[in-house]
Amino acid sequence: MISKSRWKLLAMLALVLVVMVWYSISREDKYIELFYFPIPEKKEPCFQGEAERKASKIFGNHSRDQPIFLQLKDYFWVKTPSAYELPYGTKGSEDLLLRVLAITSYSIPESIQSLKCRRCVVVGNGHRLRNSSLGDAINKYDVVIRLNNAPVAGYEGDVGSKTTMRLFYPESAHFDPKVENNPDTLLVLVAFKAMDFHWIETILSDKKRVRKGFWKQPPLIWDVNPKQIRILNPFFMEIAADKLLSLPMQQPRKIKQKPTTGLLAITLALHLCDSVHIAGFGYPDAYNKKQTIHYYEQITLKSMAGSGHNVSQEALAIKRMLEIGAVKNLTYF
Ligand SMILES: *[C@@H]1O[C@H](CO)[C@@H](O)[C@H](O)[C@H]1NC(C)=O
Ligand SMILES: *[C@@H]1O[C@H](CO)[C@@H](O)[C@H](O)[C@H]1NC(C)=O
Ligand SMILES: *[C@@H]1O[C@H](CO)[C@@H](O)[C@H](O)[C@H]1NC(C)=O
Ligand SMILES: *[C@@H]1O[C@H](CO)[C@@H](O)[C@H](O)[C@H]1NC(C)=O
Repeated sequence: MISKSRWKLLAMLALVLVVMVWYSISREDKYIELFYFPIPEKKEPCFQGEAERKASKIFGNHSRDQPIFLQLKDYFWVKTPSAYELPYGTKGSEDLLLRVLAITSYSIPESIQSLKCRRCVVVGNGHRLRNSSLGDAINKYDVVIRLNNAPVAGYEGDVGSKTTMRLFYPESAHFDPKVENNPDTLLVLVAFKAMDFHWIETILSDKKRVRKGFWKQPPLIWDVNPKQIRILNPFFMEIAADKLLSLPMQQPRKIKQKPTTGLLAITLALHLCDSVHIAGFGYPDAYNKKQTIHYYEQITLKSMAGSGHNVSQEALAIKRMLEIGAVKNLTYF
């Protein structure tokens, strides 16, 4: 009896095998799935909360409770008091801000919100991205953050084509919002002064443009969907200046030194993401007077003079973040 059931079992197995072979021959792609392990897409491991944990050595325990973007309810129903004026706070700019928040949005897209672990890359504008062929690698991140007027069109192979967020201010808004971004890219306004709120309001509500009060003429026509606009919480500017650059927080009316948009974006990423990689950061050495600094335009370090940025001090801040493993570089820094 036992041997009979064994024969039955063997016959069954043989039948299964024949069916499998027949099936796999009839479907070439299925054959691969049955007999080989599929090659998993190579993705960096992601550890929840890692970036914030490591960054706490520098920033202290700044929690995720701080909203990334400013919200109308925090200025309309409850008056959120701010200790600082722009760019570190909203003190004195509340009325203008209120008008902007009434016509823009503050939500983080569900596709990012729902991720258990967020892998982010901050793409700097540095010349090291030229011929880097990093485009495909950059496109694989969950969140791609770009800065100011950095172009994508024509540079896809080196810088990728995905843009989750673009940080900008009025004077750096000289890019075509539709050509250089995706339809769902968040355009994140970094406000340095009250006039910056005024500018975005005139653009979005098509009011009379103002020309005075900027250090460079911002665009007068800017074809953008108001739903894409966000206002960055000045908290990130405050901690970038305070914790990364140790700049004095007490405010004379005109601040002399301020963080670059790049340093600000890294600070934001350390707050928003679980892993933070950077690419295209770093400037040429000071003696290298001919080396261009951006991947897309022919300007040198000389153009940074008088910008209010101390690039050597920022380099030290980024080195520190690399050393403690809070961020990782994709290009040599
Ligand atoms: C942050 O909080 C954790 C746990 O609550 C604590 O162990 C750590 O020492 C804190 N770090 C700083 C810099 O305060
Ligand atoms: C990039 O590659 C092109 C073509 O191979 C070459 O002509 C150019 O010099 C390279 N640029 C840099 C900055 O290396
Ligand atoms: C820039 O930062 C460096 C390093 O912290 C410092 O030695 C230098 O004096 C600073 N330059 C200016 C113009 O503040
Ligand atoms: C990142 O920078 C470090 C030095 O700070 C360097 O040793 C390393 O090779 C760089 N990584 C890449 C991928 O370029």
